[in-house]
Amino acid sequence: MTPQLIDPFGRKIEYLRLSVTDKCNLRCFYCLPKGYNDFNPTSQQLTQDEIVRVVSAFTEMGVRRVRLTGGEPLVRKDLIELSTRLSRLPGLEDLSLSTNASLLAQHARGLKQSGITRINVSLDTLKPERFRNINGGELSDTLEGLMAAKAAGFAPLKINMVAMKGINDDEFNDMVNFCLEHDFTLRFIETMPISAAGRKGSEHYLDLHDVEKQLQKSFEFIPGVMPGGGPARYVQVKGSNLRIGFITPISQHFCETCNRVRLTASGTLFLCLGHEHMIELRETLRQDLNDMELKTLLNNALALKPERHNFTDRSQQVVRFMSKIGG
Ligand code: GTP
Ligand code: 5AD
Ligand code: SF4
Repeated sequence: MTPQLIDPFGRKIEYLRLSVTDKCNLRCFYCLPKGYNDFNPTSQQLTQDEIVRVVSAFTEMGVRRVRLTGGEPLVRKDLIELSTRLSRLPGLEDLSLSTNASLLAQHARGLKQSGITRINVSLDTLKPERFRNINGGELSDTLEGLMAAKAAGFAPLKINMVAMKGINDDEFNDMVNFCLEHDFTLRFIETMPISAAGRKGSEHYLDLHDVEKQLQKSFEFIPGVMPGGGPARYVQVKGSNLRIGFITPISQHFCETCNRVRLTASGTLFLCLGHEHMIELRETLRQDLNDMELKTLLNNALALKPERHNFTDRSQQVVRFMSKIGG
């Protein structure tokens, strides 16, 4: 019988975050340094066939959700073909995408047809100049992408806003109103000190419990729920359909319910976002490995999954860039 994926702490793994490229067309300062260009050559990237093979092994072992991440996933040329193939895998119930949306306007309809069910979009500010300062891009591109995704029928559309003191902490109410107006879901995220860039972002760290209290001066919250497999805790704005999620890896970790592992574009399987525990799959896949051996390898890798992340202990700090692992 095919094994199911249970880690040493009894957590069932049913969610794969699949980074399809480490490249990104933006440089969010808390993720990638300005001018960074040291991306992996395409030859080191898993091919479409290799990705489908690994994901298929995962779905046969109980993975029900796959999220396509990057870098920026839309930079990968064959993304629509890849998502079409992945969406047809038996057992896969939820194929989603995390994107900065700057290239989404021209791809939204194709992505919908390819079987992507949900999209999460990074958007830290509604001010064009500030947007440029945070990530070097154009706000209008991302807004166009978002509206195209809405027009293509994506719902829910979730906005990811990294909450940062002195950067965008005067815009939380504006972002709530923007999401109310457009029927988006809003999630606030605490900065994580992943890589030197992440540590720069963490200089602006805000505890989201304080952000929640600040918002409660203007909006009344009732308990909320939202489809998705991630770590957000939701409230709903009373009298509206708006759900607001809080992703609190620092102030209140959620590791005991962790249900996911991460595969990078070059074929490294990371067992936790906050640790270096991993196995390299690419070269093994390129050898003569049968499907049963692949499944055994993936199942054995779970023994490496740590109990929890620890972002406060400097000796355990992660040096790789967030863009490599897709958040
Ligand atoms: P849903 O399926 O819609 O719930 O997606 P998600 O929130 O899991 O995905 P998304 O790519 O939008 O990630 C939002 C934020 O959550 C990012 O900053 C991720 O880095 C963070 N995140 C997701 N999973 C984990 C995790 O296991 N640990 C930590 N520390 N952060 C995570
Ligand atoms: N801390 C918190 N969130 C981050 N993201 C990227 N880098 C960091 C960081 N250092 C977020 C992006 C995107 C999601 C996939 O990960 O804003 O919304
Ligand atoms: Fe690119 Fe996303 Fe990193 Fe921003 S957070 S630089 S959009 S990968």
